[in-house]
Amino acid sequence: METKFDILVIGGGPGGYVAAIRGAQLGFKIALVEKRDTLGGTCLNVGCIPSKALLDSSEAYHLIQHKAEVHGIKVGDVSVDISKMMARKEAVVSATTKGIDYLIKKNKITRFQGIGTFLSSTSLRVTDKAGNTTELTADRIIIATGSIPTPFPLLPTDGKRIITSNEALSLTEIPSRLTIIGGGVIGLELGSVYARLGTAVSIVEYLPAIVPGMDKELTSQLQKSLEKLGIRFYLGTKVTGGGYSNDTTVYVDMEPSKGGKSEKLESDLILVAIGRQPYFDGLGLERVGITPGPDKRLPVNDHFQTTVPSICAIGDIIKGPMIAHKASEEAVACIELIAGQKPHLNYQTIPFVIYTWPEAAAVGATEEQLKQDNRSYKTGKFPFKASGRARAAEESEGFVKVLADADTDEVLGIHILGPRAADMIGEAVLGMEYKASSEDIARLTHAHPTYSEALKEAALAVGSGAIHL
Ligand code: FAD
Ligand code: NAI
Repeated sequence: METKFDILVIGGGPGGYVAAIRGAQLGFKIALVEKRDTLGGTCLNVGCIPSKALLDSSEAYHLIQHKAEVHGIKVGDVSVDISKMMARKEAVVSATTKGIDYLIKKNKITRFQGIGTFLSSTSLRVTDKAGNTTELTADRIIIATGSIPTPFPLLPTDGKRIITSNEALSLTEIPSRLTIIGGGVIGLELGSVYARLGTAVSIVEYLPAIVPGMDKELTSQLQKSLEKLGIRFYLGTKVTGGGYSNDTTVYVDMEPSKGGKSEKLESDLILVAIGRQPYFDGLGLERVGITPGPDKRLPVNDHFQTTVPSICAIGDIIKGPMIAHKASEEAVACIELIAGQKPHLNYQTIPFVIYTWPEAAAVGATEEQLKQDNRSYKTGKFPFKASGRARAAEESEGFVKVLADADTDEVLGIHILGPRAADMIGEAVLGMEYKASSEDIARLTHAHPTYSEALKEAALAVGSGAIHL
């Protein structure tokens, strides 16, 4: 068996498998080491794909129950078969991870199943499930070992009643009451899934707003939409403890973050979703002298090299948002830099999406950031309720907001809350990447009737005025 390669990649997630494929495309001899049986990492196995499968299934149920009638569609009794819903999600995950297997074979990448542990700056030991070991060497090693849920010391998870997103994606029964600690993106997405299926969902968030990094105007309207769905928010509230009331009930003790009266909240399940942390277990970083920084991530230079030049790091384990498309873009850039090319990755134009309904999507600066930077800016807004396409679809919640420089008109940020915002944000990314002015977007012909006309109208509203408002 071949054990000498040009590049070894540790981790088969959207960082690692993309690095392997791009590396093979550029003619490198690549080995991909993954400890899971399946490729795709967190994203395909217990992240992006299963969560979106459940979001789509639960949205279909919600639509039939609550939106069919307005379209003149009469439905009888509707109910959920949770095991079938979960089986469909598993099938989607399986088809997607098998798709990656196919791509790995097609690109003639050698795959090793097992835990990769550094022996030196150019060699690795892979230990498979049976304990068999293989030693691999390469000129370059890329670490893409991803992340795991951050534990909450006050409330250790048990995998059954106090759980992380891993288990929340595979429940066998719909809980009657679910408490979620953390009003971030996992809290809102998985909270939406179960709220649509009939669960009484409560979200406890330490800070005064949900998804703290996003534009406040957008998140406060998103919160109202989710409240209509039945989700109850306890903002500015800290969990001070919790545990088991009895065989079927768990509880959290909580109080205002600034201090105050304590309250007990009981439910069937508690989902801890307070962030994710980089994962290095078993990697043996100490053996090569690499130390994570104070933020627990690996420091890298602009060529993704760690403090050991032959070892690069990408994805959730380095600075920046822990999102799949960022990991994949870093993978491509890292490999192309190794190949001596001059790739371009603009961190300012990485979009961020929350797959609730309405969806929330953003790229660039928020109003809060611009104010903090004392930047003078103009704002253009267009609500979906003024969009013909949205009215036709009975999807009029939300708006598009375009922020542009007050002097140059360069677009600085675009924030969308609305139907298919996730798909619409691509145009905003393209515009910002090419330093579009709001007038550039306003002058583009958008197909009628589409949701994306709302972006054109918001861009028009920055300048001479929206037509349909
Ligand atoms: P990972 O995907 O975590 O992959 C790392 C891999 O390395 C793992 O498979 C692990 O088994 C393996 N590994 C670790 N150590 C070793 C070792 N020593 N030897 C061998 N293998 C090892 N992002 C989005 O952009 N959009 C979304 O919609 C989205 N939804 C999400 C939903 C949930 C519930 C979660 C939890 C995350 C979601 N994310 C989403 C985030 C996304 O999953 C991550 O940002 C992405 O997977 C990071 O990719 P990565 O390659 O850095 O790491
Ligand atoms: P997050 O960082 O998005 O949100 C965690 C929230 O928990 C924050 O609002 C934080 O203020 C709050 N919090 C922290 N400690 C707390 C405490 N003790 N009590 C109450 N609240 C507390 O993390 P989340 O939701 O766990 O997601 C993890 C990662 O997964 C994110 O970084 C995200 O990028 C990624 N992800 C991305 C998705 C997407 O792109 N659509 C979907 C799901 C996850």
